Amino acid sequence: MANVVVVGAQWGDEGKGKIVDWLSERADVIARFQGGHNAGHTLVIDGKVYKLSLLPSGIVRPGKLSVIGNGVVLDPWHLVGEIAKLRGEGVEITPDNLMIAENAVLILPLHGELDRARESHNAVAKIGTTGRGIGPAYEDKVGRRAIRVADLADEATLALRVDRLMVHHDALRRGLGIEPIDREALLAQLREIAPQVLPYAKPVWKVMNEMRKAGKRILFEGAQGALLDIDFGTYPFVTSSNVIAGQAATGTGIGPGAIGFVLGIVKAYTTRVGEGPFPAELKDADGERLGERGREFGTVTGRKRRCGWFDAVLVRQTCATSGVSGIALTKLDVLDGFETLKICVGYDLDGERLDHLPIAADQQARCTPIYEELEGWSESTAGARSWADLPGAAVKYVRRIEELIQCPVALLSTSPERDDTILVTDPFED
Ligand code: IMP
Repeated sequence: MANVVVVGAQWGDEGKGKIVDWLSERADVIARFQGGHNAGHTLVIDGKVYKLSLLPSGIVRPGKLSVIGNGVVLDPWHLVGEIAKLRGEGVEITPDNLMIAENAVLILPLHGELDRARESHNAVAKIGTTGRGIGPAYEDKVGRRAIRVADLADEATLALRVDRLMVHHDALRRGLGIEPIDREALLAQLREIAPQVLPYAKPVWKVMNEMRKAGKRILFEGAQGALLDIDFGTYPFVTSSNVIAGQAATGTGIGPGAIGFVLGIVKAYTTRVGEGPFPAELKDADGERLGERGREFGTVTGRKRRCGWFDAVLVRQTCATSGVSGIALTKLDVLDGFETLKICVGYDLDGERLDHLPIAADQQARCTPIYEELEGWSESTAGARSWADLPGAAVKYVRRIEELIQCPVALLSTSPERDDTILVTDPFED
């Protein structure tokens, strides 16, 4: 039996929700290990739709322990709001089924303000963030001036932390033309929210290790996608955390040996939200068609996603950096009806063929995709539940992807319905 890490293997929005839900049904513990409420997961359970952005997907299932690890940046007001919303939908949330790492960093209102001010101030600095303060909160974490969950328990510590934060932030705010931080107002806000967060605060590392020893099944639920990873993504157009599978260990306080199977979620084509390089992007009718058929609009910001052909070079790269054991391929049905399909199999950089995306921004900009053309299919693949249900050309497309990314398909998802899945390898049993 293996513990499973689920990571997005592209730029996020690969359709993790359905897969994570399917796996969380069989897990005992579901842990988030990075990101924050920049994520957007939609779950459909017994016809009921739940939208989550900060809480782990296990929260909607009775009897599961949901964990927010230290690698997450936590907006306490958003947390309380999301809990209240789900309770209103009949979901029970108590300190018995939700646990938050005491050493997780808080996102404060000033982080969101800074994020949005930077994004709107200057086109050169624009990343296309979700505007939720994720980046500024992580900056304060590594800058050793963040407020952490445990700090909420002690008034004196909290005041010291706020003073430390103000030295840095007031200077920044002056430069951006934002009024200085109102110390007393911020302290009052924190004092007010503290009793609503503290009951969930626990030494997550300890509980995770106890769970592991007790043989509980742990599902590590990644957010965003590996190409948004702070180290291995398309920097600087990335999110501010490590997104790749290794972060599951660091972001919850469990050793890397606890990770058994790494499931990479891969969409049958490519999308990205926000700015940044996207070699296989389509700015033509095919791109529009992918966006329409795939309903490619952001769940958090509602932004239209950029669309392109499947880029095997990038997915091969993310499968390597996350040590992906098998992929879950999603949204194959969006490709139904295309006469021909293209897969990016390499890049041309100044006449030289590359098998990976170079790091240097100028080189990335000069990379042009080298495509391989495959025959499309006119039949519908939506709802297929076995390989025999798929047209031959669709099977060829999937097999070619496996060859190119050097990683097998563990699961093929053919519609948002949970049973419309072809299971090749069960990640928990592998
Ligand atoms: P941030 O995470 O809000 O700082 O945004 C940084 C980049 O990550 C932007 O390009 C966002 O569009 C992208 N991003 C953040 N969260 C998600 C997500 O859940 N799905 C897809 N893209 C995301």
